[in-house]
Amino acid sequence: MNWTSFFKSELEPIQPYQPGLREEQIREIAQVPSIHKLSSNESPFPPFPSALEAMRSCLSELNEYSDGSCYALKQGLAVEYGVPVDQIMVGNGTNELLMLLAEACLTPGSRVAYCWPSFIVYRMGAQVAGAAYDEVPLTTDGRFDTDALLRAIRPETKMVALCSPNNPSGGIITQAEYERFMAAVPEQVLVVLDLAYTEFATDSEHLAPLSWYDGVRPLVVLHTFSKIYGLAGVRVGYGFAPKPVVEAVDKLREPFNVNTVAQVGALASLGQDEELERRRAENALERTRLSEAFDRLGLAYYASQANFVWVFVPEPERSFEQLLERGIIVRAFPGGGGLRVGVGNHEDTLATIEAFDQLFGSDK
Ligand SMILES: Cc1ncc(COP(=O)(O)O)c(C=O)c1O
Repeated sequence: MNWTSFFKSELEPIQPYQPGLREEQIREIAQVPSIHKLSSNESPFPPFPSALEAMRSCLSELNEYSDGSCYALKQGLAVEYGVPVDQIMVGNGTNELLMLLAEACLTPGSRVAYCWPSFIVYRMGAQVAGAAYDEVPLTTDGRFDTDALLRAIRPETKMVALCSPNNPSGGIITQAEYERFMAAVPEQVLVVLDLAYTEFATDSEHLAPLSWYDGVRPLVVLHTFSKIYGLAGVRVGYGFAPKPVVEAVDKLREPFNVNTVAQVGALASLGQDEELERRRAENALERTRLSEAFDRLGLAYYASQANFVWVFVPEPERSFEQLLERGIIVRAFPGGGGLRVGVGNHEDTLATIEAFDQLFGSDK
């Protein structure tokens, strides 16, 4: 069998998503007992107690399929955000929604634009659809360059993805930039605003998530329960979009794409603003501690509004290995000259700073 010609030619250039290393994988490499996994932008916070209780109590009903319409969760989201139920889509993570949107909109000959480096799934969605992709450099301070993105739009462009705060740089799109972008973007272009990390942003300039959303213009606003809500393991993300977009995604998604545990856990996580605020503040504090340590060590970094910080180091791959030996798992981006260091709890921060001191301090 010639497997290369057997599969769709669109699959050829695609690199399968590389997950961050798991703790067990580095137990042998690490020379220390405690491992700090800061490679996948996960939350150090567990699911909310109410979510844990709801998820536990649904286990005995798992002989039944999940609710394919996500009825209760959509009702909850509709109340929380004031968006009509028929403008809400729920997916097996935002990841699935991004792939479904690409599948629904992109064709060979069409194009998608976004800034780079950013979330790899924007590129994967285009590749699977056989569409072309235009990757516009971030601003020098690691933020989506919305003006340059506007200039990159061509007649064939069907979709533009915006990410704020951006993964892996942590930089934001300001409300002023977003206003300028939305006022100028051609009306036949679907704007996909990925707000996976928005709950971590503390900068008052950060764009307001629903400020341009009216359920009519071609704008999709995506959120996830994977990050600040601590539900990455059950996979649940959601989006607000005009009804025709939701209907297109409904045609392509699996009938039971969001499992029962995810649905009840997500629903029980809503309406807990105080705890969200506490988590946001704690993340900001640890993020500042990390950034100050990088300042002290003379390492440049992008000012981050997310739960990770991109720090520039001379040899990212070597530093990645050296950090592993010290029990710190980060993500290396050799092409970009940096490491993406997740913001964890205080213990994680202390261990990370100690390891960076050993690698980059003056008495190293
Ligand atoms: C920018 C961005 N969007 C979307 C996702 C996907 O999140 P999930 O599929 O867990 O909802 C991630 C995950 O890391 C991300 O970084």
